[in-house]
Amino acid sequence: MKTLQDIGCPGKGNTGYDGRKGHNYLVVYDALFYQLRDKPITLLELGVHGGKSIEMWEQYFSQAKIVGVDNWADGIRPTKQFQDRVRIVTASVDEKIGDLFDETFDIIIDDASHQLDHQLIAFEKLHGKLREGGLYIIEDINSDQRRDLLVARLHSADFKTMTFDNRPYTVWPDSMMIVAYR
Ligand SMILES: C[S@@+](CC[C@H](N)C(=O)[O-])C[C@H]1O[C@@H](n2cnc3c(N)ncnc32)[C@H](O)[C@@H]1O
Repeated sequence: MKTLQDIGCPGKGNTGYDGRKGHNYLVVYDALFYQLRDKPITLLELGVHGGKSIEMWEQYFSQAKIVGVDNWADGIRPTKQFQDRVRIVTASVDEKIGDLFDETFDIIIDDASHQLDHQLIAFEKLHGKLREGGLYIIEDINSDQRRDLLVARLHSADFKTMTFDNRPYTVWPDSMMIVAYR
């Protein structure tokens, strides 16, 4: 069975979701998500861009329903046709983001603008959409100060947090993510 690295970073080259110069999140995600691979989970990702991560989740999770949200601020959209279990929504991360979804999610990943105000509003509006035992993940945090602000907010909502700081091992200064759970 392919690992998430095999799928998202084939050949460990520079291409794919987490190429050689990427954030090194995939090994963390594989450990966190492995037991969910063939379960009928629901996953929401904020930030689609060219669709690389959505494509990766589609391959990795055989039964998952996947929702991607993007306002296409970067001007790049996926060219690939996704399977029926993938839904792409055009919307911005703002106060109305929670109104977009009737469903709840097992995994929510925020990889949209990476701005603190957006990360906070997304959590504010979406953490109630997380299922029991679910994971709320914020990618690409670029400073200890910002991490501390986010962690404080997550803790105030009774979430526990794990921080994965990959900054020493990558070329990107924002290779830090928080995984939150209740
Ligand atoms: C880092 S890229 C996402 C990359 C994708 N998750 C991947 O790994 O392949 C960030 C995306 O967030 C979108 N974005 C930026 N600000 C946004 C906002 N306020 N609301 C929704 N999407 C936003 C951009 O258009 C861009 O496509």
